[in-house]
Amino acid sequence: MARVVTSTRSDLSDVLVSELELWRDGPPHELFGRLRSECPVHWTGSVPGYPEEAGYWSVTRPEDIHTVSRDWRTYSSELGGITSVGVFPLELIRSMFIGMDPPRHDRLKMLFQAGFTPRRIAAHEPAIRSIVAGVLDRLEGREESDLVADVAQPVVSRVIGSFMGVPPEDDADWARLMNSALSVADPDLSPRGVQTLREDNIPELFERCRRLIAERRERPTDDLTSLLVNAEVEGERLEEQEIVMGFFLLMAAGNDSTKATYCAGMRALLEQPDQRRRLLEDPSLIPSAVEEALRMFPAFAHFRRTATRDTELAGQTIREGEKVVMWYVSSGRDEARYEDADHFDVRRNPEHQAFGAGGRHFCLGTALARLELRVLFEETLARYPDMELAGEPTFVLSTFVNQLKTLPVRLSPAVTGSAGA
Ligand code: HEM
Repeated sequence: MARVVTSTRSDLSDVLVSELELWRDGPPHELFGRLRSECPVHWTGSVPGYPEEAGYWSVTRPEDIHTVSRDWRTYSSELGGITSVGVFPLELIRSMFIGMDPPRHDRLKMLFQAGFTPRRIAAHEPAIRSIVAGVLDRLEGREESDLVADVAQPVVSRVIGSFMGVPPEDDADWARLMNSALSVADPDLSPRGVQTLREDNIPELFERCRRLIAERRERPTDDLTSLLVNAEVEGERLEEQEIVMGFFLLMAAGNDSTKATYCAGMRALLEQPDQRRRLLEDPSLIPSAVEEALRMFPAFAHFRRTATRDTELAGQTIREGEKVVMWYVSSGRDEARYEDADHFDVRRNPEHQAFGAGGRHFCLGTALARLELRVLFEETLARYPDMELAGEPTFVLSTFVNQLKTLPVRLSPAVTGSAGA
């Protein structure tokens, strides 16, 4: 549908989209609604707390995000980082393929893709179901729980940990590191903020990762690390540092993302019993509910690019070197694309941009994330069909991860057995 842009700056010109105060209770959806209709490519001129940052363009409509995401020659992931403000050291980002442009990016991603084929992922369903069931078993006898800490975190950590070959006793360390690295603005999760990435226990975790790589070179198993140490493209193997940084990227993506969408989706189901009843009566709707949760609650609020040349987007001039932020939390609520966009409807089965909007950096973990989310919803609903909210959920303070910090629930009574049995 063609849209008329009535103004490019209007009175929104003073708004700082990533001002943390606006994000205390989750993404500022009202603001994004205004930006989409009044100023779809919007300039944030200064970033509170980051005086060295020169500002960035916010892209808020799905069609414009699509344009940016697909055109890596104009919008680079490598030039200047991938989040709205540069909290992560640039050299760290550029050492992972999420922060590279082709051809470096493509060569590495191709090798990693071998571990994420739909067939390989589907073969993990029984193992994932048993991880989820084991975690839910631990709730037995309890009346209340925090779904973030008691269910989501241990499940996603073990799933990615078992994928990579990390021993279970290391799960909590990796989860703590990834939470503090990805949620640097939240003092509860990241008491030392950006320093976490510079010091803390990263060297030790990297050392463990290197040991694992050495072990797998000696004695390969069927985990992803074994696959990576032996992978070849045109006779070329990955270098050790490339494996270590790819490992780090997968541990970061795996520990965080799925957790966010599961918890937000569960919250929506607890707040709307009619939607939950639909899923209980017809569990074949769960894959559709997963897509709806991804649309409304994308795990990452944004990713960013840097313009490599002067260009124009939706009538707005963008200069070489300027930062361009793609707000997926906005595109999933676009009223021109979705009817009643703020309503959670388990039957909608929407297309969305939660995994990126196409192009080179499209999420590598989509099949794994979808499988984890489906099994998590299936098993939680089958076990606790009458679960209720037991307090106000809280959000991680972040403009990057779109995530609940706590989701208190009343559990009883449990139904025994597995949804997949
Ligand atoms: C709900 C779950 C998930 C969501 C919403 C999500 C979202 C995204 C998004 C938006 C990107 C694009 C980044 C960009 O354009 O710069 C991305 C990339 C990526 N994701 Fe995911 N992700 C999820 C789960 C996972 C999982 C479970 C893994 C793997 C274990 C994973 C691995 C990756 C990797 C490696 C990339 C980089 C791809 C590249 O640069 O080519 N993701 N993800």
